Formats: sequence, C-alpha cells, structure tokens
Amino acid sequence: MKVIVVGASGTIGQAVVKELAQRHDIIQASRHNVTHPVDITRPESIAALFEKVGPVDAVVAAVGDIHFGPLAEMTGEQFRLGLNSKLMGQVELVLQGQRFLNDGGSFTLTSGIAVDASIRNIVNASAVNRALEGFAVGSALELSRGQRINVVSPTVLTESMPTYGPYFVGFESVPAARVALAYARSVDGAGTGKIYRVW
Ligand SMILES: NC(=O)c1ccc[n+]([C@@H]2O[C@H](COP(=O)([O-])OP(=O)(O)OC[C@H]3O[C@@H](n4cnc5c(N)ncnc54)[C@H](OP(=O)(O)O)[C@@H]3O)[C@@H](O)[C@H]2O)c1
Repeated sequence: MKVIVVGASGTIGQAVVKELAQRHDIIQASRHNVTHPVDITRPESIAALFEKVGPVDAVVAAVGDIHFGPLAEMTGEQFRLGLNSKLMGQVELVLQGQRFLNDGGSFTLTSGIAVDASIRNIVNASAVNRALEGFAVGSALELSRGQRINVVSPTVLTESMPTYGPYFVGFESVPAARVALAYARSVDGAGTGKIYRVW
C-alpha cells in the first residue's frame, strides 16, 4: 500500500513509519519535511500535498498541537490552538483526503487518553480528543467506496515522559513501538469507526 504519514518525524510518527514500512511504501510528511512539506493548519497546504502525492491507500495523522494549562486562566485563543491544529488539521486531512483515497483505503487519526485521564490542565486535549473520536464514528457511516476511518488513542508515551510526565503522575507509559501497532491494526485491518485505545 501507498501510505501518507503526517507527523512522520514525531515521537509517534517515527514509530509508525518503522512499523508500516515493513509492508508498505511510506510517504513521510510534516512542516519541515523537504520532499513532502505540509502544515495541517493551512487547508491549502494539505491540498498541495494531496495534489503532489496523488491517490493513496492510507492516510495516517500522528500530529496536532493542544494547549496544556489550567481552566481558570485559559483564554479562547489558547483553546483554539487545539481546535485549529489537532482537531481541524486532522479533520481537514479527511475532508480533502477522501477524494484521493483509493477504494477500501483508510484514515487513521490520533486522539489520546486525556478525556478519560481525570487529571488537571488538559481541558483542551479532552475536548479535542472527544471531537476527533466523534468525527471518526460519524464519518465511518458516510465514507464511500469501502473507505475506512479509525482513531488511535494512546496514553502517555514512554519516550514523552520527560515532557508530559508531570501531567501524568500515576500513569503507566507505553513505548512508541507498542502504540505503532495500533496504527498497523487500523491500516492493515478491516475495522472502521473504531477507537483503538493503547492504555
Ligand atoms: N507523545 C505522547 O505521549 C502522546 C500521547 C497521546 C497522544 N498524543 C498525540 O499524538 C500526536 C503526535 O504526538 P507526538 O508526541 O508524536 O508529537 P511530536 O513528537 O511533537 O511530533 C509532531 C509531528 O508532527 C509534525 N507537525 C507539527 N505540527 C505540524 C503541522 N502544523 N503540520 C504538519 N505537521 C506538523 C512534526 O514535524 P514538523 O516539525 O516537521 O512539522 C512532527 O513530525 C499529537 O496529536 C498528540 O496530542 C501524543
């Protein structure tokens, strides 16, 4: 299969590329990728990526910024970081990508444990992750030509503990390689409208 991985140079993205490259041709994309640059916050940038790459069998999104911080101090601008980047960036990949996705192809989006974690400072992530999962469940009913869509919801990654560890006290982290298997399950499997939780 020909698979686009958006966010390919990231902590999750690198592990997904390593896992999927064993079986598939991978097109790595991100803002700083020299061959396939894309900024998911700019719809015209996503359009340019799909025009350049052409038809694909799978689109994987392991990308998207969110705001971490207390509700009491949160501004609308901070909240919109998650909406504009993690939510609308991934939604836009599907809205535009459905025209470039081959019959039976798949979208795999990324949410996260935040919504179920019962910890502070992750309101933006909780809202965005639920929205992404709702988008996928709804879209699964409407995608045509056998196209599929799933979401991978990882807990905090072992590799990311230096950054996110203080927010996730008491949580067991998972290695990126294990999280990557859930993306493989989505790309290589038959499921649609599924949330693959790796907690
Ligand atoms: N790490 C964790 O513990 C964890 C746990 C649960 C969920 N998640 C979610 O998983 C996703 C990826 O997380 P990560 O930790 O792997 O991130 P990361 O290590 O920061 O990597 C982000 C990747 O996305 C690219 N990127 C960033 N902004 C972009 C943009 N606007 N347009 C296109 N590409 C962009 C980056 O490359 P460029 O700089 O070249 O653009 C990089 O390839 C996020 O949605 C995050 O919320 C992460």
